[in-house]
Amino acid sequence: MLERIEQIKKEALESLQKVQDEAALEQWRIAHLGRSSPLMQVFSEFGALPKEERPRIGQAANQAKQVIEASFSERAQAIQEMKLNRALTEDTLDVTLPGRDFRRGRLHPSTQTMRRILAILAEMGFQVFTSREVETDEYNFQLLNFPPHHPAREMQDTLYIQAEGRGDNPLLLKTHTSPGQIRSMRYFAALNPDNPPPIRIALPGMCFRAEQITARSEVQFNQVEGLAVGEGITYADLKGTLADFARRMFGQNARVRFRSSYFPFTEPSAEVDVECFVCGGKGCSVCKQSGWLEILGCGMVHPVVLQNGGYDPRRYTGYAFGMGPERQAMLRYRINDIRYFWGNDMRFLEQF
Ligand code: PHE
Repeated sequence: MLERIEQIKKEALESLQKVQDEAALEQWRIAHLGRSSPLMQVFSEFGALPKEERPRIGQAANQAKQVIEASFSERAQAIQEMKLNRALTEDTLDVTLPGRDFRRGRLHPSTQTMRRILAILAEMGFQVFTSREVETDEYNFQLLNFPPHHPAREMQDTLYIQAEGRGDNPLLLKTHTSPGQIRSMRYFAALNPDNPPPIRIALPGMCFRAEQITARSEVQFNQVEGLAVGEGITYADLKGTLADFARRMFGQNARVRFRSSYFPFTEPSAEVDVECFVCGGKGCSVCKQSGWLEILGCGMVHPVVLQNGGYDPRRYTGYAFGMGPERQAMLRYRINDIRYFWGNDMRFLEQF
């Protein structure tokens, strides 16, 4: 029995020398110290030994177990050190390598300009009201005082979606943000029909027209509409508001000029020019030597439009204006072709 213990110890220590990694070490531990190892077998046979032999054999077995266990933890530590040394020499870290580049997304120049316009209008007390892209002829034209076959419709070549079964009220893609005037007025008037509340809102949105696509015209573009309705609102409020807007948008010295114009839904109507911010009004290629840049259309809300929105024109007045973010972005960044906006060319978009 003593020889057998000696043999077990010898084999265990010899095979331990060949163990090189953690996985092999674990296998070794199961084979030599585990429940069904030869050493544990000895312990289980202990009870069958003659009484007088037990102390000697027991001592020898316990000693062998201690030696084997001590060698095991020594080996385990050595393997840990080997592993660490290997990692330190093999997995070299080159701190001089350049960092990995990652591409950051950014906002479309049109979105940036749109947000800037809306932020300025918000500071001036205009609340954003979103309206729909698919409209009806009624909202896009009729309620805005464009009668059927009115020649002013030709100013806006319309993309119709569905005419069949809809009589004189086909579905279309909105050609401007002005139908939002009716939608918002009706929304607010419905809150209190006998006493509609005053309104001061901004209406952003994509507009669509059946245009030939050229450097200067696209089939889609954004607009931001402003609308204020209340008691005692005058043309002076419109002028002051837009002069203030221009200073906030284009700089403290930006002067504006109003030119009389025509829209069916405003009376009187005007187009607004801002002094060219490229040349300061002296004349350059951006303003075509005129010193002025046209930036928006505006006017006092037509009584018929107020009426259609649920606001009694004998009591309420209002003003409206509409502008295009792409046009302003083109002027600001000297973009000479509107087709870049929806062309999805990264080389263009990455510049903003
Ligand atoms: N809707 C007009 C256009 O598309 C702009 C406009 C808006 C004019 C509001 C007057 C008042 O050009």
